Amino acid sequence: MRKACVAGNWKMHKTVTEAETLVQELLPGLEGISAVDNVICPPFTALDRIAGMVRGSKIELGAQNVFWEEQGAYTGEISPPMLAELVKHVIIGHSERRAYFQESDQTVNKKVQAALTAGLRPILCVGETLEEYEAGKTGQVVRRQLLAALDGVSEEGISTMMIAYEPVWAIGTGKAATPEGANRVIRDYIRDELAGLFSRKVADRIRILYGGSVKPVNAREFFEQPDIDGALVGGASLKADDFIQITQAAI
Ligand code: PGA
Repeated sequence: MRKACVAGNWKMHKTVTEAETLVQELLPGLEGISAVDNVICPPFTALDRIAGMVRGSKIELGAQNVFWEEQGAYTGEISPPMLAELVKHVIIGHSERRAYFQESDQTVNKKVQAALTAGLRPILCVGETLEEYEAGKTGQVVRRQLLAALDGVSEEGISTMMIAYEPVWAIGTGKAATPEGANRVIRDYIRDELAGLFSRKVADRIRILYGGSVKPVNAREFFEQPDIDGALVGGASLKADDFIQITQAAI
C-alpha cells in the first residue's frame, strides 16, 4: 500500500511573514491526519523560518527548484547541499521552469542526480502541453520526459522520489484532467515505464501524484483512482482551508 501524499507548491507567493501565517493555520488542521503525508514547498526566502516552525510536526518541507552544482560562481542559484540542511524534498522539472526558464530534459536530469547525491528527495514533474495533448502526443512526451530525467538514476535513488503528472493545460486553468484520463497516463506512461526501467516491485512502491487545478471539490475523484497516490497542489495550497480539505479527501 502506498501512503497518500498531498503536496503544496506555493510558487512565487508569500513573503516570510505571510508564509508564517499560513503555516500557523495549516499546523492544527493537518496534525491529526496521520493517514496522509503532507509536503509544503514555500519560496526559498521562507524555508529557514518555516523549517523551524514545522520541525517535529507532520508537515515535511520541500523547495521548488535547485541548481545542479554543489557550489561556485553561479550568481543567484541555490545548491543541493544548501537545501539539504533545510528541506527533505525538492520539486524538479515543473512545467513553469521548463517553459519560462529554459529547463530541458537534460538539465532536469542533472538536477535530479545532484539532488539525490545531496540526499534530497526529488518530486519530478512531467506533463504535456495543450498542443502536445491535442496532437495525441501525451504518451510520447511523458515517457520521454520521464526516461530522460531518470537516466543514470539507481533503484535506491528512484525509491526516494515522487513523480507528479501535471498536464500543462490543467495547471492554474481551472480545467483539471479527468480522473480516468490522468490515471491512464500515470499507469501506462509512468508506472509501467518505471516497471520496465527498474522492476514491477519498485514501480508499485513509487508514489505518483496528479497536479493541475486540484481543489477541494474535485480532489476525491482523483484519489479514488488506483494509480493516483495524491496531489501536487498549486493555487489551492495557498489557502489553509482548501489544503486541509484536500488532505482530508485523501484519507
Ligand atoms: P494548480 O498548480 O493547482 O494551481 O493548477 C499545480 C502545479 O503547478 O503544481
